[in-house]
Amino acid sequence: MKNILVTGGAGYIGSHICVELLNQGYGAIVMDNLCNSSKKALARVEEITGKRVKFYEADIREKSAFDEIFTSNDIYGVIHMAGLKAVGESVKEPLAYFDNNIGGTIVLLEAMKKRRVKRMIFSSSATVYDLGGEECLKETSPLGNSTSPYGRTKSVIEQMLTDIYASDNVWSIVMLRYFNPIGAHKSGLIGENPKGIPNNLMPYITQVAVGKRERVNVFGGDYNTPDGTCVRDYIHVMDLADGHIKAIRKFEETGLFVYNLGTGCPQSVLEVIHAFERANDLQIQYAIAPRRAGDAAKYYANADKAGEELGWKATRSIEDMCRDSWNWQSKNPDGY
Ligand code: NAD
Ligand code: WQD
Repeated sequence: MKNILVTGGAGYIGSHICVELLNQGYGAIVMDNLCNSSKKALARVEEITGKRVKFYEADIREKSAFDEIFTSNDIYGVIHMAGLKAVGESVKEPLAYFDNNIGGTIVLLEAMKKRRVKRMIFSSSATVYDLGGEECLKETSPLGNSTSPYGRTKSVIEQMLTDIYASDNVWSIVMLRYFNPIGAHKSGLIGENPKGIPNNLMPYITQVAVGKRERVNVFGGDYNTPDGTCVRDYIHVMDLADGHIKAIRKFEETGLFVYNLGTGCPQSVLEVIHAFERANDLQIQYAIAPRRAGDAAKYYANADKAGEELGWKATRSIEDMCRDSWNWQSKNPDGY
């Protein structure tokens, strides 16, 4: 059996990836310091799949933690998801983001190099693009000056990985640029579980639906978009997980690969709110609020390259995403 080490595997996206890894016959070894997640997510993964996840509660910045993981397990490749991801927090605490995301990735890469495990999938983000330019983004679109320290960590890590491959082309490195992941596993057992006030749109909507927040503040109603609200490319987290499984096949080749993972279907904030209402037969209170600093008006993915080279395509609709997000939130009003 091929074992995949998933850093950050107890998190929102990581837990969904573990489900797909186990369902597809891979071994899932999770390393997570639980700074933004719960061990319960992994118990739920085991409940869904009927298979075991091997868990190491450890920080990727801890060099010694990798000694045990790499000596006790035969690791085929790494899916590297561990990192801090709150854009606003990163503006206030840039050093914490550089230390955790960039510093942690360096420690991980050194451990992988030492053990000659030279296969990695990296959780990158659409935030690496110049988001004030083209609206439909291809992998070859201009990369930008990220608007936040968080985004900068993703750009720097992509550059580091590019340099590592140039220095030693035995590596197989796949950088996956996610657009806006939402939704949850259809069981409702795992899902997104933000601490405090949600920063992102979908968890905010589900918290309004469950009665925890009064209304959604729609950040800006005067953008140059059809209904005046910002437009993004929302992708179901299970489609994203499937993209990782397809990307693992690239581990059989050496190379540096980059793919967008999105649906290619642009949706405005108001369209998402109305899709949520339709999918769940609920009413969501909302009000137009001032713009949020740093938001681009509109961008979405061209994901043709992942289709052509990985045979991957997102299959789930915005209604599926809204239904599954609500299924998770309504069954787990207080998270894990
Ligand atoms: P998440 O916070 O739910 O998951 C990240 C996990 O990493 C958490 O379980 C956290 O405890 C763990 N972690 C953080 N620092 C760590 C460290 N030093 N050592 C060990 N574990 C650590 O976030 P997510 O939404 O599941 O995102 C996963 C990855 O995908 C992140 O790298 C994120 O930047 C990237 N990404 C997320 C989105 C998104 O919208 N959710 C979009 C693009 C990219
Ligand atoms: C979506 C839209 C908001 C909350 C972020 C990161 C990005 C990537 C994905 C990691 C925007 C609007 C939101 C609310 C609102 N993450 N909104 N009211 O900003 O597109 O992307 O997550 O790499 O780097 O920046 O996602 O969900 O925060 O916002 O009106 O309460 O919803 O203005 O237009 P975003 P989001």
